[in-house]
Amino acid sequence: MGYDISLIRPELRVEQIKSRGVGFTPERKAKLKKGLHALHTLEIMATNIYKCQITSRPCALNTHLTAAMCNEMTHMQDFQTKLYEYGFKPSKLRWLYWVVGYVFGLGSRRLGPRRILKTGIWVETKAVHHYSQLLAAVEWDDETRVFVEKDQADEYGHIDRWKGLLDHPENIC
Ligand SMILES: [Fe+2]
Ligand SMILES: [Fe+2]
Repeated sequence: MGYDISLIRPELRVEQIKSRGVGFTPERKAKLKKGLHALHTLEIMATNIYKCQITSRPCALNTHLTAAMCNEMTHMQDFQTKLYEYGFKPSKLRWLYWVVGYVFGLGSRRLGPRRILKTGIWVETKAVHHYSQLLAAVEWDDETRVFVEKDQADEYGHIDRWKGLLDHPENIC
């Protein structure tokens, strides 16, 4: 897709923050709001999953999980910022996604590295599918679309990383 997925927190300059959506039809704005709510809550969940999977052991898996957590925090900030640029507020139900992420993260951590990796692959596969649906269904403004595409590319990168570690468990720790 042409996005640099080694860049887990791209630079964002103050002039890139704008008021968006002026002149958009109510239907277009409603779809944008729904799409941004879906992505923001999904990223809250993803951040919490990785955060709760990290243990205190110094090992490669924890370093990979920390990088993924940081990347998901960037995604969450991307969509939270876009919500406010459009004059929307985050979903009132976002705490539920925080709880689900906490449960998935801690639950998989208790079951060991293989379960951690499999949970990551499962969640990220759902995420990229969701991203594809929203990229097709929502009429994004050009600048916001770049964020959605870049963040989806990051999720594909996470799937590849976890699959690679599952195939080579000697690289986990
Ligand atoms: Fe993400
Ligand atoms: Fe991800």
